Amino acid sequence: MKTIGYAIVGTGYFGAELGRILNEQEGARVVAVLDPDNAPAIAQELHCDLETDLEVLCARPDVDAVIVATPNYLHKEPVLCAARHKKNIFCEKPIALSYADCDEMVRAAEENGVVFMAGHVMNFFRAVRRTKQFIAEGKIGKVLYCHSARNGWEEEQPSVSWKKIRAKSGGHLYHHIHELDCIQFLMGPATEVTMVGGNVAHQGEHFGDEDDMLFLQLEFGNNTYAVVEYGSAFHWPEHYLLVQGTEGAIRIDMFNVGMTVKTADGEEHYLVHESKEEDDERTRIYHSTEMD
Ligand SMILES: NC(=O)c1ccc[n+]([C@@H]2O[C@H](COP(=O)([O-])OP(=O)(O)OC[C@H]3O[C@@H](n4cnc5c(N)ncnc54)[C@H](O)[C@@H]3O)[C@@H](O)[C@H]2O)c1
Repeated sequence: MKTIGYAIVGTGYFGAELGRILNEQEGARVVAVLDPDNAPAIAQELHCDLETDLEVLCARPDVDAVIVATPNYLHKEPVLCAARHKKNIFCEKPIALSYADCDEMVRAAEENGVVFMAGHVMNFFRAVRRTKQFIAEGKIGKVLYCHSARNGWEEEQPSVSWKKIRAKSGGHLYHHIHELDCIQFLMGPATEVTMVGGNVAHQGEHFGDEDDMLFLQLEFGNNTYAVVEYGSAFHWPEHYLLVQGTEGAIRIDMFNVGMTVKTADGEEHYLVHESKEEDDERTRIYHSTEMD
């Protein structure tokens, strides 16, 4: 098997972590990184080259694919550059902050004949794939309704990250797009969406300008619905996805990590990740920080 060479644009928290994971995979190797802030240290850690020019990075013959993990509002330029250089692209979520930009990025990939993949991690959770499989097998009947909550409490911030500033993150919904994406992965595209919400408890200089309570209602036609809750103004932390069908229900809990299936045959329990240790680790992290 040919070793695939990856370049990473943006090696902050997630880009660096993706690089570490890639370097552990057989047939994958990070060959170069670019980040105005911390690239030298990450290049040293990942045993790869440091690049400072995006065009040069994307033109490298040893780069087969480009990972884009810059802040949300800075995904477009590296994606278009990678596409121009006919490199496959993995772009973190949300891929852009407007439909027009998303469209331009997807088209650029199509026109250049390269793969364009968004970092919608939930679709790769073992529990989500199992849910998809159970739905296909009819285990819970017709899916009538999904409900997700990704709620917690945020304290005052010593410094305000780009992740909390709407112009840079797209706002709370965009930055935490996972459940909205996952529900549509399970139920298909929504036909009608309404949302209410606002910033109810996080005003002032120690906070950004994003909303801290969001409530979405989705309709899918044929009497099927979803309700999606998000926010950082909830002192009772919850993070779960509930799928209600005509013959049973599935709950994927990402706070007390585990998956439960309820049917007329009783309750069955499954892992959310690959191992019990990983599920327990996620539970411990979540409970010690109360943040995802
Ligand atoms: N899929 C997931 O579960 C998941 C989890 C975390 C983050 N993310 C996504 O990953 C992306 C990065 O998030 P993060 O948590 O690593 O943020 P971060 O702030 O830790 O890292 C962003 C990095 O991008 C660098 N950067 C800024 N401008 C740049 C530019 N023009 N070119 C190259 N690098 C540049 C910054 O210096 C920083 O090191 C975001 O889009 C975020 O939504 C996805």
